[in-house]
Amino acid sequence: MEPSPLTYAEAYAASLADPAAFWAEQARQIHWFQEPAQTLSQDENGFYRWFAGGRLNTCYLALDYHVAQGRATQPALHYDSPVTGTKARYTYAELLDLTARFAGGLHDLGVLPGDRVIIYMPNMPEAVVAMLACARLGAVHSVVFGGFAAHELAVRIDDAEPVVVIAAAGGMELDKVIPYKPLLDAAIEQATHKPSHTVICQRPFVRAALVPGRDVDYRELLKAPPADCVAVAATDPLYILYTSGTTGKPKGVVRDNGGHAVALRYSMEAIYGLQPGETIFAGSDIGWAVGHSYIVYAPLIMGATTVLFEGKPVRTPDAGTFWRLAAEYEARVVFTAPTAIRAIKKEDPAGLLTQGHDLSRLRYLFLAGERCDPATYEWAGRVLGVPVIDHWWQTESGWPMLATPVGLAEVPPPRAGSAGHPVPGYAVQILDETGQPVPPTTTGLVAVRLPLPPGCLPTLWHDDERFRRGYLDAFPGYYLSGDGGYQDAEGYFFIMGRVDDVMNVAGHRLSTGEMEELVAAHPAVAECAVLGIACELRGQRPVGLVVLKDGATIAEPQLEQELVALIREKIGAVASFRHALVVPRLPKTRSGKILRKTLRQLADGEAFTIPPTIDDPLILDEIRTRLQARGVGLAFEKR
Ligand code: COA
Ligand code: AMP
Repeated sequence: MEPSPLTYAEAYAASLADPAAFWAEQARQIHWFQEPAQTLSQDENGFYRWFAGGRLNTCYLALDYHVAQGRATQPALHYDSPVTGTKARYTYAELLDLTARFAGGLHDLGVLPGDRVIIYMPNMPEAVVAMLACARLGAVHSVVFGGFAAHELAVRIDDAEPVVVIAAAGGMELDKVIPYKPLLDAAIEQATHKPSHTVICQRPFVRAALVPGRDVDYRELLKAPPADCVAVAATDPLYILYTSGTTGKPKGVVRDNGGHAVALRYSMEAIYGLQPGETIFAGSDIGWAVGHSYIVYAPLIMGATTVLFEGKPVRTPDAGTFWRLAAEYEARVVFTAPTAIRAIKKEDPAGLLTQGHDLSRLRYLFLAGERCDPATYEWAGRVLGVPVIDHWWQTESGWPMLATPVGLAEVPPPRAGSAGHPVPGYAVQILDETGQPVPPTTTGLVAVRLPLPPGCLPTLWHDDERFRRGYLDAFPGYYLSGDGGYQDAEGYFFIMGRVDDVMNVAGHRLSTGEMEELVAAHPAVAECAVLGIACELRGQRPVGLVVLKDGATIAEPQLEQELVALIREKIGAVASFRHALVVPRLPKTRSGKILRKTLRQLADGEAFTIPPTIDDPLILDEIRTRLQARGVGLAFEKR
């Protein structure tokens, strides 16, 4: 592959010295219906906006453009679903045809530019078609991860106020059928906002009964005449993707059309070193940011080929599935979460299942979603024989902020435990609690100096105030990421975990605050703390410490069972909430703040100093005894 003419150092310096000039140059790589009037500007809120005045259509860039450029017969998407025993290949022309007709069907249902459409589907081609069809119409999609329960879906319906919800009749988790329709019906029942229509995609293994007048069959919509692309403003929203904040109300991260397309196009080449016509396999779910960006939009905008996988890294049918996919579809890049690699390693410690798969085309394994521990990093590199690249990003950014951008020349090589260096466009800095940059090797808060590059969230859906408060107010001139970390003396960044009430369970971002709200609502609970404790497989998992109300007599096993069921019902099984322990009190500072970090360190077996402000130091010993008795926490697990 031809390296980019720019070195990493040159590209990075240029991107910060004159962001507008740098991104104006990148914007020339995509097709505009109308060129932007301004590369970088500020809106009436003072929020930065990219490419104001420009008009384009993201679906056009992803499909029509490539068909027009001679890629009609190139595979755009390989669908591979061991859970349903299905494989299918869609060329650019075929994906365009389906998308244009489905867009026509949505249009006939009354979907207009700017309208919201919720998509509640697992990794299946119809979901990708639905996303692209919304983009085609200038409608704003919001994909809700299929593992979320009805309550989570209802919260998102009320916030996004969709005119239409498109859902699968169900999904398949290993060999377990998950019917989605009952969850959808319950969510609509719970929500205040009612969509005008729901579009149901039946599946061979689960069929849903349709409510006459409201529910429409997905395939009926494909009978409509094809719809053309609607030119939208670069600053118009393409999608909303909800992500966990520190409370029960998720944050609606907004992605615009123009900045997103430019940034993703750039990232494919500069970060992943991919060229049009090459294949990327992102082993994620379309319900997450990784799925949006690197299963759907970036590969298609690039004219590359994507692999849409419906299954798990293990047990579908075995821990060699990812390697089979990489070989079969000739992927140059595989992208997944470290937790998936840990799951594979657990089942195939010697990496024997790589054998028999031709991985000679694979160039890199990229990992994100949580910090990659050095043991997993070393193992993957050894087994695959290609560089492993841990890179850091968030739903908010939509594309990597720290990485080893392999498409640029003279990039410092990746290093175990580090997420690499700032990607061009991101002025990443480690700040202390007062907002001052800290010296190398000092841990602090990970922030990015404004303006954020194209592709990052311009705001939160219908909540400019929360955007300002949550990300910008702490340190004027910076975006605060919510992560903690440090930079070493050679400039490598290390992201060590969240500094807020957010945790990462098997690469899924969840709110401990939300779980606390739910646990605290149980009639027997006086107060509680939900901790994201270390987990060898999932990275983190939640554990509830519960103080009973005076006079409550419920036994711990019963309470635990009820709380586990409650979290499954309200958030979903993905939360992996399996333990609730009754404790006499919670450790607090004298001002009443629960010492969550100390509790977490205690459970994880990390050394900690007892904060001088603690009101009751003896309670830590009592909680240690409880954790030990239950075998909960890495420090106390019986192996
Ligand atoms: N729909 C419905 N239920 C789902 C679901 C979905 N899409 N995804 C997970 N669940 C359920 C599972 O069935 C399981 O339910 P159970 O408690 O009844 O058994 C529960 O949620 C926990 O699921 P999970 O954490 O996926 O556990 P697992 O043991 O099935 O698999 C891993 C473990 C590590 C293999 C898996 O979590 C994984 O592949 N993680 C990678 C995630 C990822 O790619 N994240 C994106 C970042 S790039
Ligand atoms: P999400 O918004 O779901 O993508 O989750 C983003 C969060 O995942 C970040 O704020 C980090 O806490 C964590 N994360 C993602 N990638 C990495 C990484 N490479 N290293 C460390 N943490 C990561």
